[in-house]
Amino acid sequence: MPAVVVLGAQWGDEGKGKATDQLGSRVDYVVKFNGGNNAGHTVVVGDEKYALHLLPSGILSPGCTPVIGNGVVVDLEVLFQELDALSSRGVDISRLLISSSAHVIPSYNRTLDKVTERFLGKRQIGTTGRGIGPTYADKMSRVGIRISDLFDEKILREKVEGALEQKNQILVKVYNRRAADVDAVVSELRSYADRVRPMVADTSLVLNQALDAGKTLVFEAGQATMLDVDHGTYPFVTSSSATAGGVCTGAGIGPTRVDRVVGVIKAYTTRVGEGPFPTELLDDMGEHLRKTGREYGVTTGRPRRCGWYDAVVARYAGRVNGLTDLVLTKLDVLTGMEKVPVCVAYDVDGVRHDEMPVDQSAFHHAKPILEEFDGWWEDIGLCRTFEDLPVNAQRYVLALEEMSGTRISAIGVGADREATIVRHDLLD
Ligand code: GDP
Ligand code: IMO
Ligand code: MG
Repeated sequence: MPAVVVLGAQWGDEGKGKATDQLGSRVDYVVKFNGGNNAGHTVVVGDEKYALHLLPSGILSPGCTPVIGNGVVVDLEVLFQELDALSSRGVDISRLLISSSAHVIPSYNRTLDKVTERFLGKRQIGTTGRGIGPTYADKMSRVGIRISDLFDEKILREKVEGALEQKNQILVKVYNRRAADVDAVVSELRSYADRVRPMVADTSLVLNQALDAGKTLVFEAGQATMLDVDHGTYPFVTSSSATAGGVCTGAGIGPTRVDRVVGVIKAYTTRVGEGPFPTELLDDMGEHLRKTGREYGVTTGRPRRCGWYDAVVARYAGRVNGLTDLVLTKLDVLTGMEKVPVCVAYDVDGVRHDEMPVDQSAFHHAKPILEEFDGWWEDIGLCRTFEDLPVNAQRYVLALEEMSGTRISAIGVGADREATIVRHDLLD
């Protein structure tokens, strides 16, 4: 009975939600360990479409316990909005567990996220504006507010006062905004305390006991490898550890307990927000991928930047995460193209790089070295085995597998839960 990590191998929106959801009823716990409601996962089940932000995708599978780990940052207003919306659609939300050590996103951090971006001007990151960066910064600066602080008004007030001593100086003196009011912040946070209390648990203990009992656990990352605060395209990243290492700190389990690390990767590449993107297509082909793949953000509605598959990124994701499997998604989007180019290496100022350049300014200059594969025209939406795929689609997948260095265990051929070709069982 394995512990499986499911994470993004590119810049996010690879289809992690669908991949996790698909493991479905065979999974006992789905654990979110990083990020917050900056994530947006679309899961399609028959005629029903769900957009999840803060909650792990496992919440849609009956019998599965969804867990929000200590590494997540929690916007309590969003938490209850999402829970209420799911509950009104008949989803059982009663099993959700939240770590008492998870940090909460106070309203002043949403404000700070937005004004900081505005002040950055040309250097802006293009954040989701959800307060993610400032909340992780508070955690590291040791002025954060944790779920466990909500239950003691005196302690909560002390912590909010402490945080606002610094924050209000910045809001007022640097950004020319109104100061946040301690009473208002405390009373807003306290208003959620009674409702959140029954969900709060020592999730590290719960998860380790579940592992001891031989249960199946899926750790679902928000964001992705190239948005990871250490391994991504810094500073154009999110503020958490979205790579496999984040599971240990963000869920409170040891690395020896992880059996499998699955990277979800699109058959092409997308990115939302600013930052370098070597295979980006700024022409009609980029527009074609955006339209065909419906590449618009689930969280902010922004059009996603689109480009070709990047095998350098895939190899890098394989390395920094220790990937055991890849789930290749959205192969159907590439149907109907004469040739499908793939980036096999970079040209950086005349020098070939087969591996990710360590230096960010080199990465900014990277030009893709492309290899072209023959396309296919047949509708692949109903293919359920590898052999069902047109031969050129098979060749494309095998070529990606070869150059990415990790076996491709599943292939997405449509948004629906069923629209997947399984080559190797991820829970076996
Ligand atoms: P996540 O953030 O990684 O969970 O991904 P998103 O949900 O933000 O974006 C992936 C989008 O692609 C969603 O709209 C999914 O419904 C959709 N999707 C996932 N897998 C496939 C696939 O194989 N084919 C197609 N056409 N759509 C897919
Ligand atoms: P999922 O889980 C794609 C991007 C933002 C921005 C940068 C920092 O759906 O794959 P933040 O608000 O996190 O401080 O923004 O990270 N970003 C995402 N891009 N998918 C996501 O999540 C993302 N979460 C954050 O666009 O460039
Ligand atoms: Mg997404």
